[in-house]
Amino acid sequence: MTPEDWKAKLSLTRDSFLSALIKTDSAGIAEFETKYLGRKGELTLLLRDLKDFPIEDRKALGALGNALKTELSAALDARKTETGAGAVNLEKSKFDLTLAGYPFPRGGLHPLTIVADKMYDGFQKLGFSIAEGPLIEEDYFNFEALNFASDHPARDMQDTFYVDLKDSRGKDLLLRTHTSPVQIRTLKNQEPPVRVVSAGRVFRSEAVDASHSFAFHQMEGFYVDKNVSMADLKWTLEAFMKDLFGSSAKISFSPSFFPFVEPGAQVAVSCVFCKGSGAACPVCKGTGWIELLGAGVIHPNVIKACGYDPEKWSGFAFGAGIERFAMLLYGISDMRMLYENDLRILKQL
Ligand code: DAH
Repeated sequence: MTPEDWKAKLSLTRDSFLSALIKTDSAGIAEFETKYLGRKGELTLLLRDLKDFPIEDRKALGALGNALKTELSAALDARKTETGAGAVNLEKSKFDLTLAGYPFPRGGLHPLTIVADKMYDGFQKLGFSIAEGPLIEEDYFNFEALNFASDHPARDMQDTFYVDLKDSRGKDLLLRTHTSPVQIRTLKNQEPPVRVVSAGRVFRSEAVDASHSFAFHQMEGFYVDKNVSMADLKWTLEAFMKDLFGSSAKISFSPSFFPFVEPGAQVAVSCVFCKGSGAACPVCKGTGWIELLGAGVIHPNVIKACGYDPEKWSGFAFGAGIERFAMLLYGISDMRMLYENDLRILKQL
């Protein structure tokens, strides 16, 4: 076959296709499509013949053939629309499109997210805004600027995971052991007065048991302004706890040590299970109190490290374990329940 013959055949195919198409109704359209465009259709076979031509002819003829295929496919589609072929006839269809679908499982927020959000809500009502900090942290922010000297035994309270990379001061990067570095990062960027809360994951090289994990969650809060005192801290935490646990909740402070506060305190809330009556309660062990967070008045060295004059500025800070709040709010006795992602438990929370 010469190229001229092939072109003539192509032209004939076009004519017969178009003249037959207008006579085809919706019932015959599928058969029509197979006749011309199917695997063994007229146009398909004609295009296949191209392989016997030398390459330069094949290119030119191929372009013509493909253009025709596009034209005819469009004409066929138009005819389908015109005759109503291919459209679903809703009246005759066997499917009832108004039926409800199959139910599918709907996800929900993780209990720790729900609790962190609740805590955020409580502090936002008291005028705090939200900040975030990185999980991979520098020794400077996690320890040094928080008044942990490099050889201070207080570092032993927080067994740390190190990352095999150096920070800008030549020290090993680490996974933050608490959310307190957010105090430093925020205050270096934002002049007081500052009221901030920050929730997130923290890491310690610890064995896992019912109340410990190598990764857990904390919420840090701090307020720096002029003349901030322990009284402001007490009022703020009491208002927060009453909002979260109900108006009968009471708080108690006992002295404690954290290098970045002075004075430092452990803060406990009256037991939400036995309402502080102390009667043989398994949660508070009969003491009537549950320890919930560490807190204190920010140490002058920390204020100084952030670039402010501790004679002029003061503040309070607190750090709370979010798991502990979740365990109290949901009545969970083993924190591992919060990490196992067992749907039978998560669905109840
Ligand atoms: N960062 C402390 C810890 O993880 C908790 C803490 C205690 C935070 C006292 C504070 C604070 O801001 O004032 O053990």
